Amino acid sequence: MSLVQVESVSKNYPRREGLRQVDHFVVQNVSFNIAEGETLGLVGESGSGKSTVARMILGLVAPTSGVIRIAGVEVGGDRTQGLRRQMQPVFQDPAAALNPRMRVLEIITEPLVIHGKAAGIDTSGAALKAAASALLTSVGLDESALGRYPHEFSGGQKQRINIARALALRPQFLVLDEPVSALDVSVGAQIINLLRNLQREHGLTYLFISHSMPLVRYLSTRIAVMQKGRLVEIGEAEELCAHPREAYTQQLLAATPELAGRR
Ligand SMILES: Nc1ncnc2c1ncn2[C@@H]1O[C@H](COP(=O)(O)OP(=O)(O)OP(=O)(O)O)[C@@H](O)[C@H]1O
Ligand SMILES: [Mg+2]
Repeated sequence: MSLVQVESVSKNYPRREGLRQVDHFVVQNVSFNIAEGETLGLVGESGSGKSTVARMILGLVAPTSGVIRIAGVEVGGDRTQGLRRQMQPVFQDPAAALNPRMRVLEIITEPLVIHGKAAGIDTSGAALKAAASALLTSVGLDESALGRYPHEFSGGQKQRINIARALALRPQFLVLDEPVSALDVSVGAQIINLLRNLQREHGLTYLFISHSMPLVRYLSTRIAVMQKGRLVEIGEAEELCAHPREAYTQQLLAATPELAGRR
């Protein structure tokens, strides 16, 4: 069974046009599944609705119509408590997600403290410190980071801290909304490799949103293409890059010279 099921999901926002209020569809009738352990890459021009889809999956924005299920549980339904633990986001701006007044130890273990009781997690000081050290190691940092504040880290290191925090509750599914767009290309590549290794190690499932076709192709099992709120094409990553069916997908690929050259 697919871990993530997005079924005929739409989102509209009312917008003023002169004196009239009109519905503006930013996501229109989008359906796709994400199988356990795979990465679905989501691409499309700015404003095509990618982040809105991501926010609806995370339960941060309610769809106007349609249904989203994670492991069979409807997002926004009655049984959503456990979903917060199963899926975690990593967003574009690594600094924005980190509270500047908290030390790394507190940042990484905050989800454990919040959900600890319900999840039966040991939240004693020693257990939290051990958990934080292990998480830091898994993202390529070490425990010397525990007592430091976010501003003492580079952008790439901050994103590693965000990933460590996202992994704290051992989620199955990460929503990665342009996780390396704010980083230098080489630093971003290291983060992408880290995400790929973590996926293999923990059997994680990813939704990966990016404007970089090479990165999307590298990380994704399948790729979905959005244009003006609609999903216009979806297919196996290699196949879609080699033989794009839609003119719009061809344009996206053509805008990436190194991929166009390889075709
Ligand atoms: N809260 C909101 N109220 C009104 N309109 C919104 C709201 N959130 C998003 N939109 C509109 O929805 C459309 C899609 O936005 P979204 O952020 O999903 O695009 P995106 O594909 O993620 O773009 P980008 O690549 O630039 O991140 C945009 O036209 C945006 O202005
Ligand atoms: Mg976006």
